[in-house]
Amino acid sequence: MATVLTLAGDGIGPEIMTQAVAVLKAVNEKFELGLTLEEGDLGGAAIDRAGVPLPEDTLQKARAADAVLLGAVGGPKWDGIERSIRPERGLLKIRSELGLFANLRVAKLYPQLANASSLKPEIISGLDLLIVRELTGGIYFGEPRGIRTLENGEQQGYNTMVYKTSEIERIGKVAFELAKIRAKANGTAAKICSVDKANVLEVTELWKQTMIKLQQSEYPEVELSHMYADNACMQLVRDPKQFDVMVTGNMFGDILSDEAAMLTGSIGMLPSASLDENGKGMYEPCHGSAPDIAGQDKANPLATILSVAMMLRYTFKHEVSAAAIEQAVSDVLDDGLRTGDIMDSDETGLTLVGCKQMGEAVLAKLG
Ligand code: IPM
Ligand code: MG
Repeated sequence: MATVLTLAGDGIGPEIMTQAVAVLKAVNEKFELGLTLEEGDLGGAAIDRAGVPLPEDTLQKARAADAVLLGAVGGPKWDGIERSIRPERGLLKIRSELGLFANLRVAKLYPQLANASSLKPEIISGLDLLIVRELTGGIYFGEPRGIRTLENGEQQGYNTMVYKTSEIERIGKVAFELAKIRAKANGTAAKICSVDKANVLEVTELWKQTMIKLQQSEYPEVELSHMYADNACMQLVRDPKQFDVMVTGNMFGDILSDEAAMLTGSIGMLPSASLDENGKGMYEPCHGSAPDIAGQDKANPLATILSVAMMLRYTFKHEVSAAAIEQAVSDVLDDGLRTGDIMDSDETGLTLVGCKQMGEAVLAKLG
């Protein structure tokens, strides 16, 4: 029997998780998936209980589970505590401990939300872009790191950006494979754009060379292009539809995925999957814990609900239930229901709803 560990986390985490769990339970029954749900704590919630952001019992449960569903972590309450045990460290540690090196972030525009984007509708209509972000390496994990005091008494902060060939190849393969699958599904040519800063950073010079070799040896049928990270940021707002799959390292992927998310109108809509080499995954919304609106029933639960769909698709290989959730989300948008982040006050026929009402509406569509 398969198990799913839910980690609600902090801020809006518990609210969005309540709605996502209700959806997961509903499809679990409807499609007789036989999933068992368990709960654990991570981030600030875990610090409050156990003194560390990723307690041993949470890690054990996560290792034992087939998939993990995560809300969000962090908040001002824990900003002052020592760096090594901040809530975010719990998130980074669980990614690393579970070997979740491949982070997939899909920026797909729901046609109903074309007016919610800050870009012109013609620039983004039909947008469907996948960012493949390396998640367990690069500058996020490189050693040495820290803040040291120099001889003159001045402080100096330092981090190290490192990638081994094997790490680059591993994430490259995920991107090439997904590009092939997407091209087949869409009847288009497979293409990926590798984002680097090879004009300045040696580590990404190796990244670029490795991608080129991988394409030549294993994926000659996939078109590979390269772009510097700064230009990629610019191109993403200038003409996002030139991209299909973007593959990049941990830090550039963090930045580009927030930017890509916003193209679709709101980061509150974007799910993500973080996968290991065997398809085990952790699924989470791309947004953070939004402490400013926590506990006010204002959060958009759709990114977490759509993360449930990704989980069913990628870990449990159950396309029908995944598609049913995505359809239900599209249906509530058709009905004009909007949380504050995707509300457009100039458009008629829209109803502003809270987190709970939005979740319940999705549930109702699932029948
Ligand atoms: C993300 C987040 C995290 C990251 C933070 C919360 C550590 O921004 O998942 O994109 O930087 O990876
Ligand atoms: Mg981020």
